[in-house]
Amino acid sequence: MYLYYTRRTTMLSEKLKKALNEQINKEFYSSYLYLSMASHFDANALPGFASWMKMQAREEWEHGMKFYEYLYEAGSEVQLEAIAKPPVKFGTPKQIFEETYKHEQGVTASINALFELAKAEKDPKTEVMLHWFINEQVEEEKNDRDILDMLDKVGDSHFGLLQLDQQVMARRAAD
Ligand code: FEO
Repeated sequence: MYLYYTRRTTMLSEKLKKALNEQINKEFYSSYLYLSMASHFDANALPGFASWMKMQAREEWEHGMKFYEYLYEAGSEVQLEAIAKPPVKFGTPKQIFEETYKHEQGVTASINALFELAKAEKDPKTEVMLHWFINEQVEEEKNDRDILDMLDKVGDSHFGLLQLDQQVMARRAAD
């Protein structure tokens, strides 16, 4: 026979609980979006870019789990919602990384809004937890800009694109 105990859930404001739960969903959606992009690259024989996107998808899953663990550590609870279907059709590698960069800029705005909410709710522990994500977003956006710069240099060269694909795979493996 199991005995259930109700955990005390008092440390986070209702607004923060809701926003942090929504952020879990956004991170898991990011993971799904990048996995869909990986599938597109695999289907188009660009295994380096596919590998990069699969690793990015794993990182996004980990980001979602960081919020998940934080909610419980802070005495709240996780309420998972449905993850939206990601697009399945994509354009050129450059268009995909432009989309990725734009997506990450949206995530940065979302993290910044969470930080502002934590300040407004007078919740320093959540502010401190969000420092990690604020720094992470600087890196995420830089990674996308770096690849976009390289794709600009490659231009329309198929050979250049294949070389960059190998370079991206090697670089990501070293991360
Ligand atoms: Fe979890 Fe790419 O932001």
